[in-house]
Amino acid sequence: MRELSYYLVSLLLATGVLSSYNAYRLPTALKPQHYDLRILTHLTGPDELRFEGRVKIDFQILQETRNITLHAKNLTIDEANISLTSLNGSNYSITNIEVNEKCEFYIMHLAEKLQLTERYRLIMPFKSMLNANDTGYYCSSFDDSVTKQAHYLAATQFSPTYARTAFPCFDEPHLRATFRVTLGYHKNYTGLSNTPVNKCVVHDTLEDYVWCEHEPLLSTSTYLVAYAVHNLTSVPARPSDTVHKVTFRSWMQPKVVEESSFLVEFAPKALSYLERLLEYTFPLHKVDQLALPTHKFSAMENWGLVTFKQSHFVHNDEVEMQQTKENKASTVAHEYAHQWFGNLVAIKWWNDLWLKEGPSTYFGYLTLKSLMPEWGSFERSIANDLALFFYQDMFNDTIAISRSVNDSKSILEQFTPYVYKKGSLTIRMLHMLLGNDVFFTGIRNYVDRHAYDSVAQSDLWQAMQEAAVVKGTSAAAIPLSTVMDSWTLQRGYPLVSVIRNYTAGFVRVNQTRFMLATAGEDKNDESCWWIPLTFVNQLHGDFEQTQPQFWLECPGAEKTVQLINIPSPDEWLMLNPQVNSIYRVNYDERNWRMIIDTLNSDDHFRDIHVLNRAQLVDDLLALASTKHQSYELAFRMLEYLPRERELLPWNTAIEVLNKLGALFRDEMAMKFRLFMRKLVAPLYGRCPQINSVELRTKSSPSIAVYRLAYNQACRYGVDDCVRQAVRYTQGTEYGTEVPVNYRDIMYCTSIGQGNDMLFHFVRERFQNLTADAIKEAWATELGCSPDFSQLQSFLDYLLQATDKTTYSYYIQAVTSALRRQHVAPETADHILKHATILNNKFSSKEIKMLLLTIIGNSYTELEEHQLRQQLKGLSKFEEHLREAFNMRAINRDWLTQRAEYFIRALSKYL
Ligand SMILES: *[C@@H]1O[C@H](CO)[C@@H](O)[C@H](O)[C@H]1NC(C)=O
Ligand SMILES: *[C@@H]1O[C@H](CO)[C@@H](O)[C@H](O)[C@H]1NC(C)=O
Ligand SMILES: *[C@@H]1O[C@H](CO)[C@@H](O)[C@H](O)[C@H]1NC(C)=O
Ligand SMILES: *[C@@H]1O[C@H](CO)[C@@H](O)[C@H](O)[C@H]1NC(C)=O
Ligand SMILES: *[C@@H]1O[C@H](CO)[C@@H](O)[C@H](O)[C@H]1NC(C)=O
Ligand SMILES: *[C@@H]1O[C@H](CO)[C@@H](O)[C@H](O)[C@H]1NC(C)=O
Ligand SMILES: *[C@@H]1O[C@H](CO)[C@@H](O)[C@H](O)[C@H]1NC(C)=O
Ligand SMILES: *[C@@H]1O[C@H](CO)[C@@H](O)[C@H](O)[C@H]1NC(C)=O
Ligand SMILES: [Zn+2]
Repeated sequence: MRELSYYLVSLLLATGVLSSYNAYRLPTALKPQHYDLRILTHLTGPDELRFEGRVKIDFQILQETRNITLHAKNLTIDEANISLTSLNGSNYSITNIEVNEKCEFYIMHLAEKLQLTERYRLIMPFKSMLNANDTGYYCSSFDDSVTKQAHYLAATQFSPTYARTAFPCFDEPHLRATFRVTLGYHKNYTGLSNTPVNKCVVHDTLEDYVWCEHEPLLSTSTYLVAYAVHNLTSVPARPSDTVHKVTFRSWMQPKVVEESSFLVEFAPKALSYLERLLEYTFPLHKVDQLALPTHKFSAMENWGLVTFKQSHFVHNDEVEMQQTKENKASTVAHEYAHQWFGNLVAIKWWNDLWLKEGPSTYFGYLTLKSLMPEWGSFERSIANDLALFFYQDMFNDTIAISRSVNDSKSILEQFTPYVYKKGSLTIRMLHMLLGNDVFFTGIRNYVDRHAYDSVAQSDLWQAMQEAAVVKGTSAAAIPLSTVMDSWTLQRGYPLVSVIRNYTAGFVRVNQTRFMLATAGEDKNDESCWWIPLTFVNQLHGDFEQTQPQFWLECPGAEKTVQLINIPSPDEWLMLNPQVNSIYRVNYDERNWRMIIDTLNSDDHFRDIHVLNRAQLVDDLLALASTKHQSYELAFRMLEYLPRERELLPWNTAIEVLNKLGALFRDEMAMKFRLFMRKLVAPLYGRCPQINSVELRTKSSPSIAVYRLAYNQACRYGVDDCVRQAVRYTQGTEYGTEVPVNYRDIMYCTSIGQGNDMLFHFVRERFQNLTADAIKEAWATELGCSPDFSQLQSFLDYLLQATDKTTYSYYIQAVTSALRRQHVAPETADHILKHATILNNKFSSKEIKMLLLTIIGNSYTELEEHQLRQQLKGLSKFEEHLREAFNMRAINRDWLTQRAEYFIRALSKYL
């Protein structure tokens, strides 16, 4: 390799003119076709973590132009050695270079116009340091378990907009091109990329360095290109059962190999399941899974080289809970679903992020449902997502899942649970309203038709519409794209009101946007949705039939619906079986009371689908908080819970009640606590004792319901629960016999009861052991301490740590402490006092969560102007203050307007 001489890019030296092109999107004049990328990686010590590279880009001209505008950021580009030739051999000269920092553009102005008929080749040499923030081409390290020496490694995280920090490129998802990657590195390391190595040669000048060329990669978006240079150990998995018998290898630190077996085996099964379901052959011949010590996200779906944060890839049944294993498997399935949704079929632009995240999440759930039926995780995932969605989308500051994004920051901000989950629920809604046959036909056509291309959401609607037409179903007549756009292009969701005419047998339905805060409600909000209406009658209730019988149109006024099967006046009528569509329903009071009577009947409450039972609770509590219904009625419904044995309705009820409970103080707080203790007692009463054989089962669908029962019973002081916690966490063994799925609850309770020895024991282990997966639980348990000075010393220790793997647990510790009202104000104080440090160490999302809790629940009495003053210059705090004070205003409104009624209704049960 030729030695390069570098010039620093300087805006002033280069041009002296300001960029005339200021839009965040690249001009559309050029289309890249092929990248040939060579990267030489140096990892020889903490001062020598860098790379140098050369990219050759072949491109086509779609419009005559005098400039080449592409992305580059934080790269030192060797301007003098940039070369531009046409494929017929003529050279072009670059007259000047401009850098647009805002858009992250690197613009080369040319002496001559590039011609439509020609193809061109651009060659750019560049270099940079390996990134230290887990983005772009970044460096990570781990300590050798024997020698304690640091091993360095380098890996990529290009999604969403970091490829440009690793090499100059046209970094937009629709600009797909083929890639050939050649990696240079010291021969002690392994190099990986999306495709297998083709051949290796020794480096001309650097001793013991090699250049390994990888096979060409199929046309792909830049954010999915990946490579890594590392010294990890590999474990082969059985070849997967896919058409191409894909070879799977997984790479990780030697010390965690044993703990990787579950996911190493699960991944190829997930891939082949999805291949069969989607009926489209996975086109690559190998997949490497790389478990990295640090990762910006938990995993990344790079085509053929899927990366994971190590703690999300390994699992130890002896010390970790079943739920975390399910979450990890769900992540794996999600990443492999991306191999079709995102990788094979790309999104045109980041506004439609949901269009790859929604299907990947939903198909991930379907994968688990099929491969791990014994977990019963499918309905649980759906119910969790529904709860999160119905909660988040009822505030006035939410945004549509499909929305315009015009800078790197807002692209990154799209990656929220809200977008993933609403996206997944939207895909589920399509599935339920079209039925299996049309839905899967439509999805398969969509994948097949758009493979190696990029799409917008209209392409999905179109494929579904055509499938409905071909299959001749009633859905063919629905304007599907208008219908679905109303859910993805709008924020919020509707409340459908159903008023029955019991004598004439028809119902009147209308819709309005549902919002929590009457104060924040925009009276002129005219949002409306296309709402599928499917009714279920009490006596002929078929909760499996989810295809719509009627539509509530948008725009459209109130609608009178003449039912096909008219329920008799003393039977209830229910809308939206299995909550197949994402709206709330309010009924007239008479209908509500009939539903409640059925819930309160031992023989019949199960006639109502469990997802609807959970949703009825969620809806009625929400409607009571907005004065649409009374708390008296809502508590009448909660009376049914003692006979409920399933997790979902309980979970919903407890989640909603706990959020309200956090707002109470003094006497109201005591009444609430007493109520909750009584409410959960019957659920707890059905749980086996901690030392029973049944609770030792490591994997069982009952674990989740037992955990909920133990957690809440101990939290609200059910005597037996607290007694068990204290008893089984005493002695020098600290209750290692407590079954792993309940250990965190027992520890938290015991520490909460003032078990100092246990606190010190857990803290000691936290500080001296490095098992990341359990540290999260330990930090949470330590946050249960009732003694703030004890807790404070732990919090200070965390914040003073310089390594991210230690200080990151501050979030878990304070989240846990904020849940405990008596230490919450002091914890809030700690957070605000250390705001400068937090602002540097934590993400904007984490800080938002903390602010919403401490300000929303009034754990600090400071007013907005005081906090603004105190937090001046701390951007991540300043950014979320407004939302947090809105939350406080909403909660205070509820306290003044509704709390009295809530407590009055609740008091009847004390
Ligand atoms: C580069 O060329 C494109 C296409 O001709 C044009 O739209 C854009 O404004 C130009 N950019 C600059 C900085 O001149
Ligand atoms: C890239 O960013 C790092 C950290 O901000 C900085 O030290 C380095 O100088 C930057 N390099 C270039 C070429 O801009
Ligand atoms: C890493 O992030 C910090 C804080 O967000 C920033 O100040 C620093 O420049 C970043 N470093 C690199 C190399 O990007
Ligand atoms: C490469 O490995 C050999 C043998 O393990 C070792 O002696 C040498 O120091 C290593 N070189 C580098 C650059 O890590
Ligand atoms: C890679 O790991 C092996 C053992 O795990 C070690 O002998 C070797 O020196 C390591 N090489 C580098 C470059 O760290
Ligand atoms: C029910 O419908 C009948 C027939 O349209 C009408 O006469 C009656 O007033 C309605 N009842 C109520 C309570 O609206
Ligand atoms: C919808 O119907 C309910 C119940 O009859 C009524 O209270 C509400 O005002 C109606 N809303 C609209 C927008 O018509
Ligand atoms: C949301 O509601 C709050 C009051 O609850 C109000 O102060 C705020 O301006 C509203 N925000 C928007 C975006 O409408
Ligand atoms: Zn994803």
